[in-house]
Amino acid sequence: MSCAASSLSVVAIASTQIQVEKVMETAVAGHRGSVVALVGIIVNLVTRLRARRVIDRSLGLLSSAALLTLGAAAIHFAVAHEHLAGYMPYGVFFVGLGIVQVGLAAAIVVVPSRRLFVIAAAGTGMVMGIWLLSRTVGMPIGPIPWSPEPVGFTDVVTTLLEGIAVIQFLRLFRRPVRPRPRSRIRVALSMVPLVLFAPFAAFLGVGAALAPMPAAYNAAPAIPGQASTSVVDLTAQRGSEPVKKFTLTAAVRNIDAHEAWTFNGTVPGPELRVKAGDRVMVTLVNHLPGATSIHWHGIIVPNAMDGVAGITQDAVKPGGTFTYEFVANEAGTYWYHSHQDTSHQIADGLIGSIVVEPKDEHAAIGRDYSLLVHTQPGSDAIAVNGASNLRLDATPGETVRLRIINAVVPGFDGAPLTPVLVGAPYFVEALDGHDVNAPRQLGPERLPLGMGQRADVVFTMPDKGAVRLVGLKGSAMFPWSAPPTASVTIGDGPTPGVDVSSLPSFDLTRYGAPAGDPVVDAAHYDVTRDIVLGGGPMFRNGTFDFSDTFDGMASPYVAPIRVREGQLVRLHIVNNSPKFHPIHIHGHVFSVLAKNGHRLTGAPIHLDAILVAPGETWDVAFKADNPGIWMLHCHVLAHATAGMSMTINYEGIYTPFAMGTQSGNIPE
Ligand code: C2O
Ligand code: CU
Repeated sequence: MSCAASSLSVVAIASTQIQVEKVMETAVAGHRGSVVALVGIIVNLVTRLRARRVIDRSLGLLSSAALLTLGAAAIHFAVAHEHLAGYMPYGVFFVGLGIVQVGLAAAIVVVPSRRLFVIAAAGTGMVMGIWLLSRTVGMPIGPIPWSPEPVGFTDVVTTLLEGIAVIQFLRLFRRPVRPRPRSRIRVALSMVPLVLFAPFAAFLGVGAALAPMPAAYNAAPAIPGQASTSVVDLTAQRGSEPVKKFTLTAAVRNIDAHEAWTFNGTVPGPELRVKAGDRVMVTLVNHLPGATSIHWHGIIVPNAMDGVAGITQDAVKPGGTFTYEFVANEAGTYWYHSHQDTSHQIADGLIGSIVVEPKDEHAAIGRDYSLLVHTQPGSDAIAVNGASNLRLDATPGETVRLRIINAVVPGFDGAPLTPVLVGAPYFVEALDGHDVNAPRQLGPERLPLGMGQRADVVFTMPDKGAVRLVGLKGSAMFPWSAPPTASVTIGDGPTPGVDVSSLPSFDLTRYGAPAGDPVVDAAHYDVTRDIVLGGGPMFRNGTFDFSDTFDGMASPYVAPIRVREGQLVRLHIVNNSPKFHPIHIHGHVFSVLAKNGHRLTGAPIHLDAILVAPGETWDVAFKADNPGIWMLHCHVLAHATAGMSMTINYEGIYTPFAMGTQSGNIPE
């Protein structure tokens, strides 16, 4: 009977070994041979152990301690490769540590003794201590001595495995190896949780270690032997345009008890106003503790001025400066923001609006306000130009243009902002800065704006009463808390109340009057690319989590769209995910062709970000008329960071810049 029970335990162990093997196989496809061999050794050892009749109630403890130690060893082997390339002594250390841990695991099952358990606990504790030191004060040796390393996912998993192993060693020490009557089935069952946990954790740790953030990834390397132009040389030709100069100093400021990253001390940064045709020169001065850059969202700039860290420039280091120079050819509503570690730096406050006014003085109207709707740094509160209830002046009969810019960090679903104008009929004069042909007058409607998108609404102030912009709702930090809201009041007096949720939604596919558009009317497109928006769990950037993907791939490994200057490019975007994705293009403008297969029935619509709702399909096209290496990404920055980012690469153009840990350029 005892024989039957012990064989049960062994079966349990053996089947676990098969799991280990399976799991490890997926994680370390390249090291399959050694993993299989390793598993073989363990199974063998356990069999020998059984023959030596050491099996007793400590078997659960013994095997889990061994498995936990093996798991930590596997992760140490997996990280060694990256360290050998980066800083060799660390690589050697991790290989050595892995070997010692494999030996320890074997010794635990073959020659268990209280002395061994003490040594194991002390040794493992010491490894954890070294780790703690390296993450807090840093190590005396290393690429940069005495500088603490960031805590990564693999660290946490390894330390967790080792921590539990130490507990098991101590329990083993307290419980000497001595036969005691106890149900073998209970023994087998009691070890199930850890025996499952150890390989699973090791699988996650090894997988993450084998998929680190690339050290240096070049989106468009120069091809040897082929003549090509560097993005650095794609600048604005000298000309005689009127020059408008600005300085934006980036620095940390305390705003409402939160540490904000600011341009010129405020969030948002100053509104920049220029006239169409102006040569704009903006000097970025970086007084932040980290590197940064500025991207001119929606403005057609030469590639070298696009501000994308790791593609069009190196991020500007603390203390550094960079001068952006471009000709603002097209009037419209735009905004600027950091394009280094964008998901954090936009949320931290590095944003501002830039308005390009029409050249023609007479086109100017009564009141013209840019409204940058944004999240307040360090909180989920939303605001317009820094105020939660913004008041603006306007007198009865005056024409007012509101340039609404959505810079609000949305929830994980990426849902759009849906502002509503109440108190006066209005026109949607422009979308993403581009005029709409013959806009129709509208009553209160929800105007969906994905993050990054803009809408210009124009109305005449009523004889009495105020006009309000409502429905500006952020996303709540917790499901049970109320979503934060903001509003804008123009003029004085009461405004009619509306139930925002019952209002219809503005539909850009049938707004305004049809007109000719060479990109829409083209009979043929030179390049067509299907882009499927999706997502799923993945090992990426040294961790295991949910990725948002283009065609099943996460950045930087999404295949670029390759184009030649002059080509017409069509994108067929299919959203197979349950989230909203405002897909933003740099350096170009989309002409919208169709939604869910149906052509637009209203005015031609030009956008730099197309909002794709769950289940929707959009066809857009653009003319490749601005050579460079350009980003195309979801403007829900959490999605972009999670992989939804790619590039449009022009033939004959290369970038000397790289993204990754070496340069510290992280565009998203
Ligand atoms: Cu508004 Cu790639 O950015
Ligand atoms: Cu998205």
